Amino acid sequence: MNISHIEHLGIAVKSLDEAIPYYENILGLKCYSIEEVADQKVRTAFFKVGQTKLELLEPTSEDSTIAKFIEKRGEGIHHLAFAIEDGVANALAEVEAKGVRLIDKAPRKGAEGLNIAFLHPKSTCSVLTELCEDPNK
Ligand code: CO
Repeated sequence: MNISHIEHLGIAVKSLDEAIPYYENILGLKCYSIEEVADQKVRTAFFKVGQTKLELLEPTSEDSTIAKFIEKRGEGIHHLAFAIEDGVANALAEVEAKGVRLIDKAPRKGAEGLNIAFLHPKSTCSVLTELCEDPNK
């Protein structure tokens, strides 16, 4: 697979309303989008840092995986997302052939209309890893 850059870092927060002022008022970043991703039971807020984004993730339900993450480990960095130049489907096939455990067997739609898939932390040195591609590029 061909990784071009870190697409975003996913950061679990209890409340976007409480977290956004830190990123805007202290770090001077600008939240350019807030989006609910219903099937992941999260509300997301995005900031650009150069080519990379920060994706704040607020759970919208107690059975959201983000709610469970915060309960177990507290707020903090949740996942690392790479931009894949040559397609997420190709990358999944390639790493599966190398024995990597997949959370998503096929790409699905994530926030911002990206095609995304997650690799299992058991196979990624414990860093929940997301592969992304922009279908409009
Ligand atoms: Co993400």
